Parts: sequence; structure tokens; C-alpha cells
Amino acid sequence: MSEVAVLDAKDVVVRYPGNPPVIAVDGVSLQVAPGETVALVGESGSGKSSLARAAVGIEKLAAGSVLFRGEPVARLGIRRRATALTGIQMVFQDPSTSLNPRRRIGDQIADGIATARARGAEGSRVEEWLEKVGLPTTVTGRFPHQFSGGQKQRIAIARALAARPSLLVADEPISALDASTQTSVAGLMRDLVAEAGAGMLFISHDLAVVRRIADRTFVLYSGRVMESGPTDRVWADPQHPYTRALLAAIPEPDGAGRIPDAPSTDDRILWAEVPPVLG
Ligand SMILES: Nc1ncnc2c1ncn2[C@@H]1O[C@H](COP(=O)(O)OP(=O)(O)OP(=O)(O)O)[C@@H](O)[C@H]1O
Ligand SMILES: [Mg+2]
Repeated sequence: MSEVAVLDAKDVVVRYPGNPPVIAVDGVSLQVAPGETVALVGESGSGKSSLARAAVGIEKLAAGSVLFRGEPVARLGIRRRATALTGIQMVFQDPSTSLNPRRRIGDQIADGIATARARGAEGSRVEEWLEKVGLPTTVTGRFPHQFSGGQKQRIAIARALAARPSLLVADEPISALDASTQTSVAGLMRDLVAEAGAGMLFISHDLAVVRRIADRTFVLYSGRVMESGPTDRVWADPQHPYTRALLAAIPEPDGAGRIPDAPSTDDRILWAEVPPVLG
């Protein structure tokens, strides 16, 4: 890759204290190139959120390294770190963790715009962002509690996008939205990020959406990468039995079927014995 990756994670290990300690991420390497959307998929507990938090520097690395645009975020001085971090935005599954309950939503989106301006981006208007995420422009004076979960998530997404990040890390950003708009909001995120030459790390249980928007997909199981590659290739020709099992569980259009819960302990041992195929 000739251009510097937006995100370059190498051999990342995330460990939580306990007896025994939990190795949530066990030596994962991944890069996100400018303009690229990379998806993380895998069952609940496979380490997706832990890896996402490590990628943005809010989870301590037990080993490995994370570079943001070529620089190790952890080693930057406090001032440069703050500047660098404004280039990273995160959207969480629960929008109340992304929004300040005591501030009007127009002001919060304006904060995003101010961040973008501080980084030299062109100005934009709060109303534009509300329109983009499908909310009326008349709601700027309201507070987060006056919105539904799905509306709050749209506001959190608008604020993150308004900041024009170089890297957007979105952890289950669409699960709070109603099914009819999940694909369009995810597509909007992908398009805006790609247009800006930014990168996106996108986590979702919704494999149909991942298939539509991700350039590459990483399949995690038990903190390890089971398989990775261009999304089309992973879907057309999954190399790993775990990927096949995951893809076989994609819900039918009638809503029947769902992604299975964690395999039983016996299955776990079986899976763990299959050597990961790195694509
Ligand atoms: N703060 C924490 N302290 C201890 N263990 C944790 C903590 N956060 C996560 N874990 C454990 O680390 C593992 C990975 O969790 P993580 O939340 O990263 O998975 P995930 O793939 O995001 O799951 P989900 O799809 O349910 O969001 C799990 O075994 C989880 O129980
Ligand atoms: Mg998670």
C-alpha cells in the first residue's frame, strides 16, 4: 500500500483483568486505507468492540501497536494527541453514550462542524447534516431525551460525520434504527466517509448491510481473525468453516433465521482447533 493507512493495527492484544484474565483480542492486525470501509463481524463476545476501542486509543493495548495516519497515537505528546484524535470519531451502539444529555442537539452537531473547521475543512450547516440523516431541520433546539433511540442514533451519526473525521469507528451504529432505514444510513456513512478519503471501521451483526457497504471484511472469533479479505470474496468463497456458519445464518428476507449465539463449549473447542486462515 503506497498511501499511508488511516489505521494500522499490528498484533493487537487486549486483555481484561480477572481470574483467569480475558484475552478479548488475541493478536489482531488490520489496516484501513484512505477511502476504505472495513467491517468486523463475528458472534457476540468475539472481541469486536474491544478491538474498536483499542483502535481509537481508549482501550489499553496489552501488546501490539496502533498507528493513526502513520503515527503511534499513544506516543504523541498530549497536545498533538488531542489534535490527532479530533481526526477520529466514534459512533457507539447506544446513542446515549455518544450524546451529551444536557446540550441541545443543534449545538452538538455544531461541535462536530467546529472540529472539522479546526482541522481545516470547509464549513457546513447543522441543517444540512440533519437532512442527510433524515431528520427535520426544525429540531435543533431540542435535547436528546426528546428523541427516540433511532433518532438519537441519527443525531450521533450526524455529529460524527460533521466533524469530517479521517477515521470513523462505528460500533453497531445501525442496530438502534428501524430495519427500513438501516441500509440507507449505513450507505450514507460509507459514501460520505469514502468521498472525504477517510476510512471507516464498521461493526455490525447485520451481515446483509456489511455485504453492501464494506470493501473488506474481517471475521473474528474468540479474539482472533478467522478470515479476512475483500467482502465479495469472503461471501462468494468463504475459506473458513466459521465464516460459512456465520454466513449461513443470514436472516431470510421474511425475517426468519438469525445469527447463532455463541457455540456450546464443545463447539468452541472445535472451532479453536481449526487454524485461522488469514486472507
Ligand atoms: N470491560 C471488560 N471487562 C472484562 N471483560 C470484558 C470487558 N469488555 C469485554 N469483555 C470480554 O471480552 C470479550 C470480548 O468482548 P467484546 O465486547 O469486545 O465483544 P463483541 O464482539 O463486541 O461482542 P458484542 O457483539 O456482544 O458487542 C468478551 O468475552 C467479554 O465478556
Ligand atoms: Mg460489541
